[in-house]
Amino acid sequence: MDNKIQIFDTTLRDGEQVPGCQLNTIEKIEVARQLEKLGVDIIEAGFPVSSPGDFNSVVEISKTVEKPVICALTRAVEKDIEVAADALKFAKKKRIHTGIGTSEFHIKNKLNSNPEDILKRAVSAVKLARKFVDDVEFYAEDAGRTENEYLARVIEAVIKAGATVVNIPDTTGYCLPGEYGEKIAFLVNNVPNIDKAVISTHCHNDLGMATANSISGILNGARQVEVTVNGIGERAGNTSLEEVVMAIKSHHSLNYETGIDSRQIMRTSKLVSTLMRMPVQPNKAIVGRNAFAHSSGIHQDGVLKDRQNYEIIDPAEVGVKESAIVLTARSGRAALKHRLQILGYEFENEEIEDVYNRFLDLADRKKDIGDEDLEILAGREKKGKPPIELVSLQVMCGKSTIPTATVQVSFKGDVFTETASGNGPIDASFTAVKNLVKRRVRLEEFLIQAITRGSDDLGKVHVQIEHKGDNYYGFSAHTDIVTASVEAFIDAIGKIT
Ligand code: KIV
Ligand code: ZN
Repeated sequence: MDNKIQIFDTTLRDGEQVPGCQLNTIEKIEVARQLEKLGVDIIEAGFPVSSPGDFNSVVEISKTVEKPVICALTRAVEKDIEVAADALKFAKKKRIHTGIGTSEFHIKNKLNSNPEDILKRAVSAVKLARKFVDDVEFYAEDAGRTENEYLARVIEAVIKAGATVVNIPDTTGYCLPGEYGEKIAFLVNNVPNIDKAVISTHCHNDLGMATANSISGILNGARQVEVTVNGIGERAGNTSLEEVVMAIKSHHSLNYETGIDSRQIMRTSKLVSTLMRMPVQPNKAIVGRNAFAHSSGIHQDGVLKDRQNYEIIDPAEVGVKESAIVLTARSGRAALKHRLQILGYEFENEEIEDVYNRFLDLADRKKDIGDEDLEILAGREKKGKPPIELVSLQVMCGKSTIPTATVQVSFKGDVFTETASGNGPIDASFTAVKNLVKRRVRLEEFLIQAITRGSDDLGKVHVQIEHKGDNYYGFSAHTDIVTASVEAFIDAIGKIT
């Protein structure tokens, strides 16, 4: 049996059905182009009869994309099939994906019909689709809950009618991996003409089994998997493309292959997440922010010795530059020193001790320490002791309170204290500092920035002051923005000679 697994991407159809994830045609074309770069075999570009927008997207994607087959979804309804064929008219390689519900639930409660009538409608739909295109995929909706004997009859009939691919969707994400695999094996063993069609999996993730079910389907004879980027899709989503592709790639001994260029995975994931406004959960396999991040001291040490101690995939293989050593209060000196070296900072042992202590101090206040935080810690260490330093700062502020600040600074070994009020905590603190240093300084510019995200983040403050016609610049960063502001102000004042 051929060991090439066809990757059928339905991000733009099943994925796009998610409320709030709708894309316009230009965005869909951008995703389709990236899917082509990624190397998917089939792009399900939309459900043309559902809206003029979907119709137009299928038309435009058909014109733009060259290598993958462009597929359009229909119900087993004449009009749907005719409209899909029309939408595909510019596609170099085209497929119509038609089908109908085959489970007892769908036949009785959704379609208000009976198994024989459904079988006839399935056959007619495939025959009609074959009049327009050579490549027709049939889906037996809710196959996961369809009784195997009846499913086998339907599949045999649609293959006889001309279906080239037969899709066995676990529409409700109900199956367990063993059960889904047995279903595929049952079809392989009981449908006499099954060798005339490719079996496809289409699994939903309601029980978190979508990837496991798809792999189980492959192990039992399926040669196409229907997936979405980041696993987006109805309810809990579809099987995620990156998980199936990397499971196949990581388990070489299974001897399956896909045409995917895995180095494009991260880029594709980010594009889909951004355009669809659907953030990727941090611990998502393969593409989550933490998928290659190591935070505990023991793991960091292990990864620094040999990446494979704690990683089964080289991040570069999926387009991630390198594993992230996330520095937290649990990180050791080795991890800190290593990261600083990568950033271009070399410290002697006694120096690193000082940086490490300040690192721990920051890590206690802030969960994750990123490269920008480290740059600031390291940069400050290199500058040496400033002439004026903030010793302590107390501010009182809030609704119905006059903002007041008490500032203590050390100057040439002596400590001075001053209290002042102002129109806010920063203004009060700056006035106290000005009174202390007894210099006429004017604040020219004052800029506060958060470095990354989150309310626990370091805030960066840049100030520009004027003294006797000259400008002086100050900078500081702190998790407390008022402290950062006062430190930056004092930094600038300290530069006045
Ligand atoms: O989940 C499903 O059954 C589907 C079909 C329309 C293929 O998305
Ligand atoms: Zn689906």
